[in-house]
Amino acid sequence: MRHLLSTLDLDRIDALSVLDTAGQMAAVNGREVKKLPALRGRTVVNLFFEDSTRTRISFEAAAKRLSADVINFSAKGSSVSKGESLKDTVQTLEAIGADAIVMRHWSSGAAQQLAESGWIKAGVVNAGDGTHEHPTQALLDAYTLREHLAKERGVPAAGLDLTGMRVVIVGDILHSRVARSNVWLLDTLGAEVIVAAPPTLLPVGIEAWPCRVTYALDEALAEGPDAVMMLRVQVERMGGAFFPSAGEYTRSWGLTADRFARLNAASGRVLGTPLVMHPGPMNRGLEICDAAADSPRNTALEQVANGVSVRMAVLHLILNHDAEGTQP
Ligand code: CP
Repeated sequence: MRHLLSTLDLDRIDALSVLDTAGQMAAVNGREVKKLPALRGRTVVNLFFEDSTRTRISFEAAAKRLSADVINFSAKGSSVSKGESLKDTVQTLEAIGADAIVMRHWSSGAAQQLAESGWIKAGVVNAGDGTHEHPTQALLDAYTLREHLAKERGVPAAGLDLTGMRVVIVGDILHSRVARSNVWLLDTLGAEVIVAAPPTLLPVGIEAWPCRVTYALDEALAEGPDAVMMLRVQVERMGGAFFPSAGEYTRSWGLTADRFARLNAASGRVLGTPLVMHPGPMNRGLEICDAAADSPRNTALEQVANGVSVRMAVLHLILNHDAEGTQP
């Protein structure tokens, strides 16, 4: 893998290769091995033009657990604020030794542009580009689902895809890079995806996505999903015009205490009890109630922990792309 820009670039074999490699990395995160020397002498730069807690810190932890040197670059407080271009910024970082650039950018398509620009030789990982894609989030979500599927079936997770699982993705699809990456990857891995959202928060062209779309969350929940992925309402991208209102949103599309109780009493298509997923950060009281946010069925923190293993796998595969098949 030269870069990771989009889940559309991953076929089933590629996606399983990342998940299986992440499974091997999980032993390091489980502290059976504290650190691997796999990326000793390599430098990973976290280049963040937008805020982040989980993605930036877990990429940092992932790179360090593989013994890479890590440089954290935040656009705030850098020469970007003096008008320095992306080209000059990344060339400066490569001159300092960057072998891989993990970039979060407010502009949709920025990671692709950087990878195709020829400005640098370093591998590029898309850590979220505008409202477009967040491929490592989708991979860690798929990894989390697969761990639960394997446990339910009493089989090893390695090699397993998500065939048979039904996932409902709920809420602000319009502004969500997580939704697009997830729909594509879940479909590639054989899961069935239902998107439930208000019409005002669906993107143009969603008919072409490999999923069913409904405006009625309660109908989607009645279909026996294995996981309900609640998305953050991205008020900061709405330019002050949040429609429907917060109250109406919660009543119709929030995981309220009542909906959560019904979900807990139901069975999934393959899992005994459905999972609640959230990429974080959560808007408690808006898209998710406290009971669901704090429930043991909520995998939000498990997703964060799995994110380190998945990002170790991605960095390992990208920085060893000339030696595909290299064991971690
Ligand atoms: N899920 C996610 O991308 O979270 P952060 O914005 O905290 O990185």
